[in-house]
Amino acid sequence: METLWIQAKSKTYPIYLGEGIMDQVKSLLPVDPSAFFIVTDDRLAPLYLEPVKKALITLAPVSTAIVPSGEGSKSFDVYKDLLDQLLELNLDRKSCVIALGGGVIGDLAGFVAATYLRGVGFIQMPTTLLAHDSSVGGKVGINHDKGKNLIGAFYHPDAVLYETSFLGSLPDREWRSGFSELIKHSFLDSVSFFEELKSAIPDFERLNSETVTPFLRRGIGVKATIVEEDEQEQGKRAYLNFGHTLGHALEKEAGYGTLTHGEGVAIGMCFALQLSEALFNVTLPSKSLVEWLKALGLPTTIPEALPSDRLIDHMKRDKKRKGETIRFVLLRSVGDPTLVEIPEEQLVEQLEKFRADGEWKK
Ligand SMILES: NC(=O)c1ccc[n+]([C@@H]2O[C@H](COP(=O)([O-])OP(=O)(O)OC[C@H]3O[C@@H](n4cnc5c(N)ncnc54)[C@H](O)[C@@H]3O)[C@@H](O)[C@H]2O)c1
Repeated sequence: METLWIQAKSKTYPIYLGEGIMDQVKSLLPVDPSAFFIVTDDRLAPLYLEPVKKALITLAPVSTAIVPSGEGSKSFDVYKDLLDQLLELNLDRKSCVIALGGGVIGDLAGFVAATYLRGVGFIQMPTTLLAHDSSVGGKVGINHDKGKNLIGAFYHPDAVLYETSFLGSLPDREWRSGFSELIKHSFLDSVSFFEELKSAIPDFERLNSETVTPFLRRGIGVKATIVEEDEQEQGKRAYLNFGHTLGHALEKEAGYGTLTHGEGVAIGMCFALQLSEALFNVTLPSKSLVEWLKALGLPTTIPEALPSDRLIDHMKRDKKRKGETIRFVLLRSVGDPTLVEIPEEQLVEQLEKFRADGEWKK
């Protein structure tokens, strides 16, 4: 097991990463709560709820809530239902919410923890590869009809307990989805991270808990450095949205759950590289990225059924938008991200070019 620390201005907290963490929960938890409230989903509950409950029950009374698996649970209805349950149980301010699941559970349960009685204890127990990203950094929230993650808060966990043996039951599609965010971290960091990750895990066959764990640590490190510098997303933290402006629009237009978050980000990164090359007149490893994503089984082009004008509408609603332009994270080179405001007209043109190329950079 390894320990990493996030040292944000508002809070310092540990991330425990590795196998066997569940056996050490008692000594690792930095909180001494009056009660635990575990939030998980209906796919994870039969797999991990009992062992986690068993590990916690010796410390304080445990209540549980099981929500439907999937993005649909990041909703007002499910959020309210969880608050109702906490109120019904009469849990006090010393209680602690445990998020046992992927990014959906982390975001949802974290928002519950942030807002119930103006904030209670919060522990992230990530179960997906993607959650190496989502469980760190304190962004929590739910979706609104008008877009993803529009309602939320900055609320760091007290600790992240990342039991990597939980990844063993992750469906193939979720492995791919989470790996997409790791590729994003490599792009934000350096050519060496990008190249090393690509050569260690060139295709889906090589992607497993053993090969990915050292890179997970590195990915968390990239996120930690950015979050520590800019906790509230006043500047650099927005770099973490590389691939996300189009990615979020694709997820929204396809219908949540149709495309995974990481699939949207994979297509979004391909587009962001095209835009970067066009705007900065530079050559980036775009062909190499497309080949790699294909070998991993991730998409690289926009599905035909999703019309450009609808995607533009969603991007215009993105909360990171400034005035009439749409904000993108682009790369001057690998490891050198920058924020650029793109006028709508130029975006339409580039999006059409990206679509027309179809088998882009084949
Ligand atoms: N807060 C942040 O900083 C941040 C960053 C990136 C993404 N996100 C959010 O994360 C969400 C996506 O997260 P996700 O990809 O982890 O999705 P998810 O939480 O929906 O999990 C994906 C699926 O895998 C199942 N699952 C999870 N762990 C499993 C396991 N160990 N074994 C078997 N099945 C398992 C879940 O039941 C679900 O069906 C999105 O809502 C996205 O907006 C948040």
